[in-house]
Amino acid sequence: MSAGRKLSWDWFAGTIPENVIVDETAYIETTFSFQFFRSIRPGGVAYGRGASTYLGTMFDVGPQGRVTLGDYALVHGARIICDAEVSIGDYALISWNVVLMDTYRVPLNSHERRKELELVPTRLLRMACADVPARPIRIERNVWIGFDVCVLPGVTIGEGSIVGARSVVTTNVPPFTIVAGNPARIIRKLEPRTTLPHAPT
Ligand SMILES: CC(C)(COP(=O)(O)OP(=O)(O)OC[C@H]1O[C@@H](n2cnc3c(N)ncnc32)[C@H](O)[C@@H]1OP(=O)(O)O)[C@@H](O)C(=O)NCCC(=O)NCCS
Repeated sequence: MSAGRKLSWDWFAGTIPENVIVDETAYIETTFSFQFFRSIRPGGVAYGRGASTYLGTMFDVGPQGRVTLGDYALVHGARIICDAEVSIGDYALISWNVVLMDTYRVPLNSHERRKELELVPTRLLRMACADVPARPIRIERNVWIGFDVCVLPGVTIGEGSIVGARSVVTTNVPPFTIVAGNPARIIRKLEPRTTLPHAPT
């Protein structure tokens, strides 16, 4: 599972999973972030240049899940529930207690959900993980997501957009737009800065 990569500053006695790609300029505050990481995909998490994840960030990634963090992306304590794909673009800023979920992990049908809960105590990893569809989430570059936001399966948040604190994002957000509320609605448009360069190479 792990080649034994540890972090010298870590308070948790964990290691970085073998299939996690970490650029040499990236920062991981603690390997506790991988406590729920079960991906077997190559690059199950991939950190770009200067990307950072801080305390409270949890990669709850299923066997076929994959999370990518772009260059200089900063995740300040999000729960990333991923059974397919969650991509976080260059310079995206994700605040405290954000939840990005590309799957609900339980069926919507109450009878099916009850059957799933009955299975939980029989599992080695005592968790709900029904075979329900996952739909990728895409956070494009320069996006800012405020604290306590929830982003639901299948959502794309367009380049340069801002999501207000405590919003629930149920549908795609166009580029350069501020959205807020539950469900998140457009507050106003931002000036598109098409001259913003990509991360320096
Ligand atoms: C999204 C945000 C940046 C917008 O700020 P703003 O442009 O100054 O917005 P305003 O205060 O002018 O509000 C515009 C309207 O949106 C509403 N609104 C703003 N933020 C909202 C939110 N989070 N949820 C619901 N409504 C919100 C306001 O009530 C106002 O509505 P009105 O026109 O009916 O009066 C800000 O509200 C926000 O959520 N900041 C959170 C920052 C954060 O999480 N920081 C963590 C550290 S990274």
